[in-house]
Amino acid sequence: MGYDTIIYGGGMYAGGFNGGKLITKNLDKLKGKKIALFAVGANPGREHELRAFWDRVLTPEQQKTIGYFYLRGGFDFDKLNAKDKVLMKMLKIRLRKTKERTEDEQGMLDAYDKPVDFSDKENIRPLIEFVLK
Ligand SMILES: Cc1cc2nc3c(=O)[nH]c(=O)nc-3n(C[C@H](O)[C@H](O)[C@H](O)COP(=O)(O)O)c2cc1C
Repeated sequence: MGYDTIIYGGGMYAGGFNGGKLITKNLDKLKGKKIALFAVGANPGREHELRAFWDRVLTPEQQKTIGYFYLRGGFDFDKLNAKDKVLMKMLKIRLRKTKERTEDEQGMLDAYDKPVDFSDKENIRPLIEFVLK
């Protein structure tokens, strides 16, 4: 409450925004503050997928004032907690069974053996510009 600008980042988990409700459920208390959200995820950030994601997180009205950004993250199976390991093992079984995998599905499957990290500090520029505007 003591800040004029709130920047909140969370991971994409099964299409949801980890912890995002902390912000979206408390917008009445945050009135007048500049709010920027960023999501990290393993997906490449295709426009139509991000559109669908943000439409689930923010109403059209909220999208007019709140800044929202996607910063591609990574995936390292060994670093997951026990619950996520189980979930992701299930996904792996499903992916293995899929005969004709999309490029993204294959990329995800490969990442189980070889951790990926697409994070890049340069990607925060639009967020910084929004906050300084
Ligand atoms: C259980 C689980 C579900 C995930 N679901 C998605 C997803 O729906 N979309 C996506 O892009 N990435 C997904 N990811 C990948 C994470 O968002 C990605 O690894 C991110 O960088 C995690 O950031 P964090 O470690 O800071 O939470 C998922 C990862 C796990 C473990």
